[in-house]
Amino acid sequence: MRASFFSESVRELAISASGAKAGELAADIGAGSGFITEGLVTRGLSVIAVDQSEAMLRELKRKLASAGTVDCRIGDALALPISNDSVDYAFSNMCLHHVDNPSRGVKEMARVVKLGGKVVITDLVEHDFEFLKDECHDHWLGFKKESVRRWFKAAGLTGVSVRSTRERCLSSSSCGHCRANVGIFLAVGEK
Ligand SMILES: C[S@@+](CC[C@H](N)C(=O)[O-])C[C@H]1O[C@@H](n2cnc3c(N)ncnc32)[C@H](O)[C@@H]1O
Repeated sequence: MRASFFSESVRELAISASGAKAGELAADIGAGSGFITEGLVTRGLSVIAVDQSEAMLRELKRKLASAGTVDCRIGDALALPISNDSVDYAFSNMCLHHVDNPSRGVKEMARVVKLGGKVVITDLVEHDFEFLKDECHDHWLGFKKESVRRWFKAAGLTGVSVRSTRERCLSSSSCGHCRANVGIFLAVGEK
């Protein structure tokens, strides 16, 4: 299902922007069925995968159980079940537009990374496809890059970069009359 929304290049961009290396520890926030987690595990990282949905984490475990380096935790992106300063990277792909307070979400990600660690977010740029609110439980119709930049800075992150990628997220409404085609941004900051 994920492949029909966006391509694997999104995770390649996110992971390469982080500089993540084998042996390090990352968190994947709103991990879902493990799109980002899988890319990190393949590169030899250990991952704490957080999601509010038990069903999603069950699916993630089914896919990645043999990796042995994934710690699944049910929890809220706005109150992460992860201690302060404990991971090298906090990634989040396509979760921020589901939370009611995205600025708080960025702060939480910044809280859990170690000094020198990175927060890496890929999500939707601002759009006007209202049907995504009803059909996909989206809370926000994407974000202005300036807002994301402000939230990163307010969270105390430095060297902040927020840029559009060439990647797109595609989704059709259930009636088939509306087809969303939305740009994806990549935001990176260091603690
Ligand atoms: C669009 S999916 C993206 C999943 C995955 N990151 C990916 O790239 O395929 C959004 C995920 O965020 C999770 N989510 C939404 N709001 C959340 C919250 N407040 N705390 C934790 N997870 C949340 C959902 O359960 C869902 O698995």
